[in-house]
This record gives sequence, structure tokens and C-alpha cells, in this order.
Amino acid sequence: MIRFAITFVLAAAIPLGDAVAADAPQQAAATEFRIHPIGHIKKANDRMLIVLDKKYQDGLLGLEQWSHVQVIWWFDKNDTPQQRSILQVHPRGNPQNPLTGVFACRAPVRPNLIGLSLCKVLAVNDNVVEVETIDAFEGTPVLDLKPFAPGQDLASGVKVPKWAGPK
Ligand SMILES: C[S@@+](CC[C@H](N)C(=O)[O-])C[C@H]1O[C@@H](n2cnc3c(N)ncnc32)[C@H](O)[C@@H]1O
Repeated sequence: MIRFAITFVLAAAIPLGDAVAADAPQQAAATEFRIHPIGHIKKANDRMLIVLDKKYQDGLLGLEQWSHVQVIWWFDKNDTPQQRSILQVHPRGNPQNPLTGVFACRAPVRPNLIGLSLCKVLAVNDNVVEVETIDAFEGTPVLDLKPFAPGQDLASGVKVPKWAGPK
């Protein structure tokens, strides 16, 4: 099984679902987490599929009621110490674009190789989600799926740098 070690620096690890009181006791900082892919991207005959391992199929219950899903995946083709050490790039590989921090753009090289794609859901069948399109390669490991919830995920007063704006 493929495993990824992800290193984060956190002030404290917070148990899921717990309210955080100002005087809550601080837990020891976790610096490393182990992540297991839940499936992979399959591209066949112009169809784009997220194929989950069968053991995660139950987790798809209800996803067909959402129009869009956020797919969290791993830039596995860039998983080298050299590529994970890159902190600044010219976005979109275009030297004309200003040097930009990887946390200020969507570069496929970054310390933790997490990709995020918002996809239109076309169908959910058994352990397979068909999406309209996704910018991840065939075979890309998928880490998580979360439905796009406009109430939570929509931003107002959005601004973007010039290089990312309309051409
Ligand atoms: C600019 S990145 C953006 C990805 C995602 N939408 C995001 O914002 O995190 C998209 C590019 O990553 C590259 N890519 C796709 N799958 C990859 C993989 N498994 N490993 C490395 N690079 C990948 C492709 O060149 C693709 O065009």
C-alpha cells in the first residue's frame, strides 16, 4: 500500500468535534501524520473517474445529492526531496509571471504535495465517482473527497493577483 508521510507544525492537536475552550489543556504538538490514499484517478475513453478502494465505498453515501465535490489528491509524480523543497515558482511555468510563493499559487511542487480540484459530479456508482473533468493525471492517488458546500466554501470580496486574473 502507498503511504505518505506529511509533516506539519501545529500549535496543538485538537480532537475532532470538540469545542476549543481558551483554557483547554494543550496536547503535545504532532509533527508527522500518516495518510493513506482512498483511491485513484482513472481516465478512460474521455471519462474521468475517481475509483475508491472498495473498503471506502460506504463513505460515498449521499454524495450523489451534491453537484460538486472537492477532490484532495497527491502530486505523486513530484514526490522528490528536491521538488518538495521548492518554495517559489513562476506560476503556470511562465517566466513572465512574477516569482510567487507556492502558498500563493497552485503549483504542483510544494512541501506537502496536496492537490485540490473542484469537480462537477456526473454520477456515483458503487465505489466510483464520475466527474466532468479533473486536472490530476491518470493513476493519481486520491486522499479525500468533500462536497462543495456554497454556504461554507463561497467567498465574497474576492481578489486575485494580476497574473491569475482574466487574460
Ligand atoms: C497547476 S496543478 C493544480 C492542481 C489542483 N487544481 C490544485 O490547485 O491543487 C495541475 C497540474 O498538475 C500536474 N499534475 C497532475 N497530476 C499530477 C500528479 N499526480 N503528480 C504531479 N503533477 C501532476 C498537471 O500538469 C496539471 O496540469
